[in-house]
Amino acid sequence: MLKTVTTARELRMATTDWQRRNETIGFVPTMGALHEGHLALVKKAQSLTTRTVVSIFVNPLQFIAGEDLSNYPRQLEGDAKKLESVNCDLLFAPTPEEMYPPTFKTQIDPGPLGNMLEGAIRPGHFTGMATVVAKLFLQVMPDYACFGEKDYQQLQIVQQIVNDLSIPVGIVPVPIMRDADGLALSSRNAYLSATERKQAALLPQTMFDVAQKLRDGGDAETALEEGKKRLTEGGFRVDYLTLVDGRTLEPITAPQKNARLLVAARLGKTRLLDNTNLLTETPTTAFPEVA
Ligand code: PAF
Repeated sequence: MLKTVTTARELRMATTDWQRRNETIGFVPTMGALHEGHLALVKKAQSLTTRTVVSIFVNPLQFIAGEDLSNYPRQLEGDAKKLESVNCDLLFAPTPEEMYPPTFKTQIDPGPLGNMLEGAIRPGHFTGMATVVAKLFLQVMPDYACFGEKDYQQLQIVQQIVNDLSIPVGIVPVPIMRDADGLALSSRNAYLSATERKQAALLPQTMFDVAQKLRDGGDAETALEEGKKRLTEGGFRVDYLTLVDGRTLEPITAPQKNARLLVAARLGKTRLLDNTNLLTETPTTAFPEVA
């Protein structure tokens, strides 16, 4: 039976008991509505450590004004069953009051990396994300934490805060999991209507086609413009389709080692994100040294 705790105190009791017995802890932070992508993170954590903790917390701090926090899918019971099916050891599901009591004041500003791309469109989002991730790391004290490459900018920011604040957690990037038509798995896909879900496959198709053009030596500006046009004609409102340095996320004009193609576009009310490297071989991981 999967053990579920809701307070940091109960969590610490379980983890200190493991640490006393020299067990190692892998951690997967989530906001719930779990899918196969999350379970792949759990399996990766299990391959590295003897115990795995998953947190489910819909973090109000990372929702910006106008984003519907109350409608974010919450399905704790079903999520717990999925975690049990992959033999997760512990679920930490704190309440907002447990995480943010009335005295709570400190926030972590990840700097420039938090203000570009997603951060420019959702100001304050990455401060909220960085704050909760740092807090969860201190509560769980894991040896490794697994993050999906789907939220590529988030992954870079988490690596940066761990480096900057000397948090002793190995960050493990896990490749994107996709549906059969290529759409990256995301809890937000549940917002798509049946028609939109069919249309949505154009996003990864376009991204992979642009990546191929770049690999073939095509002009980056032209390939990106053509990609945006195709998405717009396919019913998307494109926020960005851009080629960046995979670490700094600064735009680049031609493919280079660790280049990353990032895309964000809206389909109806749903905002979809995706990204890919430019290698033809197996997907790169953002931080091969810790993978
Ligand atoms: O990727 C997510 O689900 C969230 O941003 C995270 C890392 C769990 C922090 O709330």
